[in-house]
Amino acid sequence: MRTPSGAPGQTEQPDAHAEHGRRVASMFGRIARWYDFLNHSLSLGQDVYWRYRLARCLRLPPGGMLLDLACGTMDVTLEALRQYPDARVAALDFSGPMLARGRDKATRAGKATAVLPALADGRRLPLPDASADAASIAFGIRNILPREEAFRELFRVLRPGGRLCVLEFGSGRTRIWKGAYNFYLDRLLPLAGRVISGDAGAYRYLADTIRDFPDARALGAEMLAAGFADVRWQPHLSGIVYVHVARKAADGADEG
Ligand SMILES: C[S@@+](CC[C@H](N)C(=O)[O-])C[C@H]1O[C@@H](n2cnc3c(N)ncnc32)[C@H](O)[C@@H]1O
Repeated sequence: MRTPSGAPGQTEQPDAHAEHGRRVASMFGRIARWYDFLNHSLSLGQDVYWRYRLARCLRLPPGGMLLDLACGTMDVTLEALRQYPDARVAALDFSGPMLARGRDKATRAGKATAVLPALADGRRLPLPDASADAASIAFGIRNILPREEAFRELFRVLRPGGRLCVLEFGSGRTRIWKGAYNFYLDRLLPLAGRVISGDAGAYRYLADTIRDFPDARALGAEMLAAGFADVRWQPHLSGIVYVHVARKAADGADEG
């Protein structure tokens, strides 16, 4: 797997994966204070709608428990609580600064008591088996290597019948404005990252990981391989992002 930023690929050694994790956590720590502003401005506000769509797919039962993995500054956590006001959310991330900003936002939104924030690596979730009614991960799975470990953990902690909803960038293979999008990824993103956050490298990393990420079908196949059933996906903005939805079949049965 090509990793221009120096990040190890899916097939490399455990130490390389741990080192990759340390670098990613440190990078998000450095850009945490700019993260929301850059997110909203670089997506022209579309990210709000994408997270709304993601949360709609969760179908949390009344009083249900959501695991929001790689929750960052908790935009998905808060959108889920807006749509499912009596839910509780385990909001997990391995970047302290991102989590701290999320915790502040939850407090300002009056939702602190509904959120359980915790520092955790997506490859080893500090949750019991079958403890979550649904799980979300938005723009996070792309950063986790190897992805199969995260999918295995998400499968383990979901209760049978629960849904996993993944929001992630598309690979670009089906994009209609490929040239413009490449220009955006290669030039605009690092430039905006450098000017605003002072960290062009972080936004170059973003562009590199988007390009290296599997296409929607391949990601769906990885979810199936992890044991999920009913895997499907929906493109948004001509495939710039996708929402994948999968279900942990009840009692291992693969019913629809
Ligand atoms: C692009 S941000 C997405 C944050 C948030 N979900 C959102 O929609 O804005 C990616 C987040 O994934 C977290 N992350 C990356 N790898 C992780 C891992 N192995 N375990 C836990 N969190 C991870 C980063 O710390 C960062 O906060």
